[in-house]
Amino acid sequence: MADALKSHQQLLLQNKAWVEQKNNEDKGFFKRLSLIQKPEFLWIGCSDSRVPANQITGTQPGEVFVHRNIANMVIHTDMSMLSVLDYAVNVLEVKHVVICGHYGCGGVLAAMTNNQIGLIDNWIRHIKDVYRMHQDELEAIDNMKARQDRLVELNVIEQAYDLGKTSIIQNAWQKRGAPHVHGWVYDIANGLIKDLEVSMNSDEDMPEVFKFEKTKPNLK
Ligand code: CO
Repeated sequence: MADALKSHQQLLLQNKAWVEQKNNEDKGFFKRLSLIQKPEFLWIGCSDSRVPANQITGTQPGEVFVHRNIANMVIHTDMSMLSVLDYAVNVLEVKHVVICGHYGCGGVLAAMTNNQIGLIDNWIRHIKDVYRMHQDELEAIDNMKARQDRLVELNVIEQAYDLGKTSIIQNAWQKRGAPHVHGWVYDIANGLIKDLEVSMNSDEDMPEVFKFEKTKPNLK
């Protein structure tokens, strides 16, 4: 217990040091941030402690609106994700939404096994759906690490499509041709982000069944 107390107190000390450093670099930093947030980006990433959105993109407080969950999932019954998405898209009017997965993602690896972990099995089941959709491609890859990496990528791509299947994103596309939805994967082993080159700002390539009727112009 003593050690735990010590380590959390260390965070508070580091916070004070960080404030001092920021104030030295830029006197108006905190004052400016206290007045407004106008981030251009919504980041939907994994909760994994090794994938901190701001640090790996070299961005500062105020620049990225962040939602993180296990395996960077877009699940349409997740009120937390939907609330973040609606606020980011309709109030903050972000220009880009990034889904960022990462190689070696524990959630994705667990989805490839038959292990029972607990409540999280229900969350991970959505990744199993991605596996099932791409089963032929995945099982044609003999190397297990390569197969895992590919499922990480396919999961990101499917989550990007899942964003496009929300009325929140489709209405914004109709209204302002934005946000652009992107799919990226972070490599924990070297720190680099790979752009999967899924970039969408319209529903034109989407299967017909997912397209909502266009809202009337005077309605939000
Ligand atoms: Co992860």
